[in-house]
Amino acid sequence: MISSNSSSSCRTEFNLIQVNGTWTRQTGQCKQKEGKSSDAKIYENKTDQGVCWTVVSPIVFTYRVIQCKDLLDPRNDTLLWGHLGDEELKDTTSNSKPVKRFIVIDKTVHELYGSKVSQYFDERGVIYKILPLTTTEENKSMELVTKILEEVHHLGIDRRSEPIIALGGGVCLDVVGLAASLYRRRTPYIRVPTTLLSYVDASVGAKTGVNFAGGKNKLGTYVPPVATFLDSSFFQTLPLRQISNGFAEMLKKVLPALLHGEAVNIDMSFMVYVAQQKGLLTNDEKDRIIQCMLGLELPVWHEECSLALVQKSLRERLKHSAGSVRMPLPTGLGRAEIFHDMIEDDVICQAFQKWTEELSSFGAPPALGEQ
Ligand SMILES: NC(=O)c1ccc[n+]([C@@H]2O[C@H](COP(=O)([O-])OP(=O)(O)OC[C@H]3O[C@@H](n4cnc5c(N)ncnc54)[C@H](O)[C@@H]3O)[C@@H](O)[C@H]2O)c1
Repeated sequence: MISSNSSSSCRTEFNLIQVNGTWTRQTGQCKQKEGKSSDAKIYENKTDQGVCWTVVSPIVFTYRVIQCKDLLDPRNDTLLWGHLGDEELKDTTSNSKPVKRFIVIDKTVHELYGSKVSQYFDERGVIYKILPLTTTEENKSMELVTKILEEVHHLGIDRRSEPIIALGGGVCLDVVGLAASLYRRRTPYIRVPTTLLSYVDASVGAKTGVNFAGGKNKLGTYVPPVATFLDSSFFQTLPLRQISNGFAEMLKKVLPALLHGEAVNIDMSFMVYVAQQKGLLTNDEKDRIIQCMLGLELPVWHEECSLALVQKSLRERLKHSAGSVRMPLPTGLGRAEIFHDMIEDDVICQAFQKWTEELSSFGAPPALGEQ
């Protein structure tokens, strides 16, 4: 289509066609050549000042999520081939090249499952390297990424056919994902989550990242894995606190509101009381939500969460949101709405009083890691 809105401006839309391995552009009106066409378009705008080209190119991500049992059983093909479709699998297994894999594994997971992982790849006749790393929130940094990249480089992998495998909790999956997205501008990687939190959250998304300059996940990319393999049998060895932490994430999705993990549950619990005080929830609904949290062994109250702290946090929130605070509150079981008005101080005070009266006997357990 060619349009001209003034004598000095001319806009043309081009499609891209690949002919004999070379991309060429052609207008929608005159199709001179036959070939593979791209979803991308180029818009050319000619004016008296010069020419401007705008490229619109959709990016499509395709990845597989497989839920299975006995992922580490050598008879199960998933860990080795689950990332491939039937056609790709035929092509890959028909060549006689030895199969190679690089596996990054959380150190604790390695202590528990390392011998099974080695046995899997030994029995499948794979050339492999296992890199156990202490992947904690404290050392979720570029140093870990660099360490992984050095080892990948040392082993040497074919970035088209030999995906990097990450086995561990969310920290391990995020760090390996970032390393893979950087290596040779993008090397495929596979996520195998071993904590409940990473199973329900970090497993199926595209976000990778590390902490940087005091900020959580400040450096990262948006590159999905080629596949995620879900095997809930890894939960057998998880400490109870980690299971509760994962349940908090699931609960957050059911009561669509707020942030992450265990500490946030105390905030959610208080907000349930605020919602009830505002008449958004019945007393019965409030009790059912709190019972659900308690049933999942989540903390619902903390002595350090004082009325003064709550009021200060709300004021801070207002300050940092340019006067228009967005407050998610539950409005029923499985329902929530965003409220834009500041919650009245008397509602906060009354909710706080009731929250403390009813829940102070359920104080928070010690912070994660203190056990
Ligand atoms: N990419 C995303 O979309 C996304 C989403 C949510 C969270 N995250 C990230 O995930 C991280 C939190 O993940 P997490 O809670 O899994 O923490 P984590 O990775 O620190 O794992 C928690 C602990 O569990 C241990 N562990 C792991 N699997 C085990 C098993 N099967 N048995 C026994 N112990 C085991 C680990 O060694 C670790 O000590 C955060 O850094 C967060 O930013 C990422």
